Amino acid sequence: MTGLAVTDLCKSYPAAGGGRREVLKGVSLRIDKGECVGLIGESGSGKSTLIRCALGLEKPDSGRVDYEGSFVHEATGPDLLLFRREVQIVFQDPFASLNPRMTVEELVGEGLLVHRIEPSRARRRACVAELLGRVGLEADAMHRYPRAFSGGQRQRIAIARALAVSPRILVCDEPVSALDVSVQAQVINLLADMRSALGLGILFVAHDIGVVRYLCDSVLVLAEGRVVEEGPTETVFGDPQHDYTRALMAAAPVPDPAEAKARRALRRQQREAARGSEP
Ligand SMILES: Nc1ncnc2c1ncn2[C@@H]1O[C@H](COP(=O)(O)OP(=O)(O)OP(=O)(O)O)[C@@H](O)[C@H]1O
Ligand SMILES: [Mg+2]
Repeated sequence: MTGLAVTDLCKSYPAAGGGRREVLKGVSLRIDKGECVGLIGESGSGKSTLIRCALGLEKPDSGRVDYEGSFVHEATGPDLLLFRREVQIVFQDPFASLNPRMTVEELVGEGLLVHRIEPSRARRRACVAELLGRVGLEADAMHRYPRAFSGGQRQRIAIARALAVSPRILVCDEPVSALDVSVQAQVINLLADMRSALGLGILFVAHDIGVVRYLCDSVLVLAEGRVVEEGPTETVFGDPQHDYTRALMAAAPVPDPAEAKARRALRRQQREAARGSEP
């Protein structure tokens, strides 16, 4: 098989009152190169835990993660290097994810050095300049430190850093949640462009249904550590089967006033129905 496959993943953490709390309860998903998969679910549903396990940053209790047919948690040597290079991540908070003591040149060029893609400093610098251009930043940005940039610009730097090593799959954990709305749209468009230009597979974690609808071919809805609904994006959102997906959709902001009004009416009905079922 190709791409990244997560099969029946379970993960628990020690619970506050003793024992363990299951955070992932048998989750499976798959991303092929060139495909964009959305992962949505409310805060605490296990999205970031799933990503950490899928990237080999944490070991699941059971289940497996395979990349290009090899078992990630047992991979060593060349298989592990290939995985670390070809599957990259962009985190939610561009203020915390970039080392403030490194220049943009060092940040974006680090992977080229670590993976021995471009040992020559002059050629590395040329690659960094090209990558910055690709994400819409001037080449002379490379001489500055992250603190000199806005949130949206920092997220572009983080994307350039991830793209430097020619990944095949980009995992984005709520990459625009910390940005304001106009900047969100620019970063989303950048990801969409990179996907078509480079044939990247993207796993896109979000709260925002509108963004997932725009960007993703298919979507998984996670609730309390389980996938409760999945399928092609328009099928899932066009006819949501699970109450949880309906609730998420009803809570999403809607640009169309008529639809927004219809949703407010739906929420009112749901509240009344819930009150009616109270003992
Ligand atoms: N290292 C950890 N130790 C103990 N509990 C953890 C740990 N990491 C996550 N959890 C718990 O697991 C649950 C799922 O957390 P996770 O961060 O995966 O949620 P999420 O869906 O990414 O939420 P958000 O949308 O807020 O980012 C939470 O209840 C969290 O408190
Ligand atoms: Mg998270």
